Amino acid sequence: MAQERITLLEGKHIILGVTGSIAVYKAVDLASKLTQAGAAVDVIMTESAQQFIAPLTFQAVTGRPTYTDLWRTESRDALPTHIAHVGLGEEADLLLIAPATANTLAKIAAGLADDLLSVTALAAHCPVAAAPAMDGAMYGHPATQANIATLRKRGVFIIEPETGRFASGLSGKGRLPETPTLIGTIRQILGRGGILAGRRVVVTAGGTKEPLDPVRILTNRSTGKQGHALAQAAIDAGAAVTLISTAEALPIPVGAAYVPVHTAQEMLEAVESHLERADVLIMAAAVADFRPAQIAAQKIKKAENEQLTLTLARNPDILMAVKALRERSGWPRVTVGFAAESEALLENALAKLEAKGLDLIVANDITAPDAGFAVDSNRVVIVDTQGGQQQIGPASKARISEAIIHRVADILAQLDTSGI
Ligand code: CTP
Repeated sequence: MAQERITLLEGKHIILGVTGSIAVYKAVDLASKLTQAGAAVDVIMTESAQQFIAPLTFQAVTGRPTYTDLWRTESRDALPTHIAHVGLGEEADLLLIAPATANTLAKIAAGLADDLLSVTALAAHCPVAAAPAMDGAMYGHPATQANIATLRKRGVFIIEPETGRFASGLSGKGRLPETPTLIGTIRQILGRGGILAGRRVVVTAGGTKEPLDPVRILTNRSTGKQGHALAQAAIDAGAAVTLISTAEALPIPVGAAYVPVHTAQEMLEAVESHLERADVLIMAAAVADFRPAQIAAQKIKKAENEQLTLTLARNPDILMAVKALRERSGWPRVTVGFAAESEALLENALAKLEAKGLDLIVANDITAPDAGFAVDSNRVVIVDTQGGQQQIGPASKARISEAIIHRVADILAQLDTSGI
């Protein structure tokens, strides 16, 4: 699948250190996806990595030379100067070693520098991350664990291997995570120090699901894509994110604390229990205003009902509850709501902004074909308390999210300077 561009990765320089594990094939996919996302990827391969795969493979997917040799200075893949291995790690944004073998981890932990990758790791000024990948026994060995602990203590970001089946047929912990997990982790690392660094953000996503009987639910057409994109954008901006979501089929952004919920009542309880000390609440969820007044204990049978009338009861309004909570406690400091409308977009949005005590409301016209539910793009107007309107899109839900996160960061910065 093609990888869309990722704003955070645009123009970033990543050194990918590849060592001799069967998981090198996943590193090829990672190098390719990082390049497609907008990063400049320089690959350094160890001798043993080249037993599995040729340097040309990485060169083909990154469009840049693959570095293999500490000493060569003449050819195309030679380092620009005799000290360029130091330079490589100096101006990069990240050195990621993936897969990282037990041998390479041991070398770096001990400070050995006998090939281009270990020299670069020792000389690096940028953040360093490593994704161990090896047989389960090797990973669990006290020597490997001690090396990993040493590296962690020195600030190396260790990407935990996954549990599963190895090439040997055995199972255990030591598998290299798949590309989306690796890219998610890279985003988390590169996002540190962003415009929401040190902020706590709670995001809700998806349509609530209200049970009618053991088989059926009442729900709506929201898929949760915009909410999950917002959680990712907040992580890219350096925030600590809690994602309260009904969208169990969607990927969870790496680094988000995930709280699965189904009903409006469950969502209300989850929101209330995560608001203390939260800087921001973004209510992107489509909360059902009504639920079946009674949940049938047994499946409702058609033979017993020629016609069926459902009685619905009002659900709590989560944002109204948050408004009351905020007045008492001061948390969250900023509240953002959404308004999905099929008519009188701005009028309805403004009325909701005021009634629900919001700082921003994101209004979208769900009748537009390139906006709203279940599509990857959206077109919105961000309305603020002064009545200011910012039109965004049509654009991807990722871009829309970044624009919303920028507005939120601006409001928090203003609150900080005014001492609130
Ligand atoms: N919302 C909420 N609790 C509800 C319903 C909605 O917190 N029970 C939130 C939504 O998450 C959204 C905002 O309120 O951020 C506006 O939702 P919307 O459904 O457009 O508004 P309603 O207040 O439900 O008004 P109506 O459905 O009558 O347009």
